[in-house]
Amino acid sequence: MTGPVNRLRPRRSCHAVPGSNPRFLEKAQGLPADQVFLDLEDACAPLAKPDARHTIVKFLNEGDWTGKTRVVRVNDWTTHWTYRDVVTVVEGAGQNLDCIMLPKVQDAQQVVALDLLLTQIEKTMGFEVGKIGIEAQIENAKGLVNVDEIAAASPRLEAIIFGPADFMASINMKSLVVGEQPPGYDADAYHYILMRILMAARANDLQAIDGPYLQIRDTDAFATVARRAAALGFDGKWTLHPDQIGPANEIFSPSQEDYDHAELILDAYEYCTSEAGGMKGSAMLGDEMIDEASRKMALVISGKGRAAGMTRTSKFEIPGA
Ligand code: GLV
Ligand code: MG
Repeated sequence: MTGPVNRLRPRRSCHAVPGSNPRFLEKAQGLPADQVFLDLEDACAPLAKPDARHTIVKFLNEGDWTGKTRVVRVNDWTTHWTYRDVVTVVEGAGQNLDCIMLPKVQDAQQVVALDLLLTQIEKTMGFEVGKIGIEAQIENAKGLVNVDEIAAASPRLEAIIFGPADFMASINMKSLVVGEQPPGYDADAYHYILMRILMAARANDLQAIDGPYLQIRDTDAFATVARRAAALGFDGKWTLHPDQIGPANEIFSPSQEDYDHAELILDAYEYCTSEAGGMKGSAMLGDEMIDEASRKMALVISGKGRAAGMTRTSKFEIPGA
């Protein structure tokens, strides 16, 4: 089942690839994104969807996606496409697929419905039951209001994703530039939404991912928006263009200094609580006092660093040794 292992999947950059475009599906395999999601929803025209399901199956089975989390975004449950998307893709390529992304999730039942369908397919196909994870997109007011229940709806859930384009339309936000602040408002119009998603994700041990930034030629603006989400605690962001991937990977990784520090805190805490270290509940690391709360904070940073493949550059020295 899902759990700590899945939580550590890196998702700093989640790259969107239209499922109907073989050229993009080919190219995406060489990009340095942590995750790719092959899209059957909004990047895929309605008439192209039936063929795109099979194109995706072929590319998942025959492509080289080494080092990437492989996700397929299906259509949402208010359409008539969802069940066929899931059945075709998971029956055809379930062994080569990590998660299904469900868009426009409005309540917990929609996640449960996908969970049940996945279980039936896994049983029928002889796949390990529970192996395929779920990522849920929050893209409208109803989804946000229900996000706490949504985030707790299935042990398959790995990430909650903000979908700014659909969300802005859903609440009538007065901006047409997706991910940008609406004119005439001085504060951050996304703060409440992002925090609400982040709390629901963290309360259920899930990752929180920010959605797309559509001005794909403006990488500075992309970085500004990404930094805001990273500062709050988000784990990653969608990328729509290869030029957005490098900045996303950098912005959502801890700095080397923070990563080293976090690993030192974990070592120092483990030592001070051990028999050899005197079984103490707190200790000094240089001039800093650390305790169980410091360990928890350090775990988050070290988890992100390890998931990003970082290596530490400093070693813990036993005090007085
Ligand atoms: C993504 O799906 C969005 O609507 O922003
Ligand atoms: Mg959307």
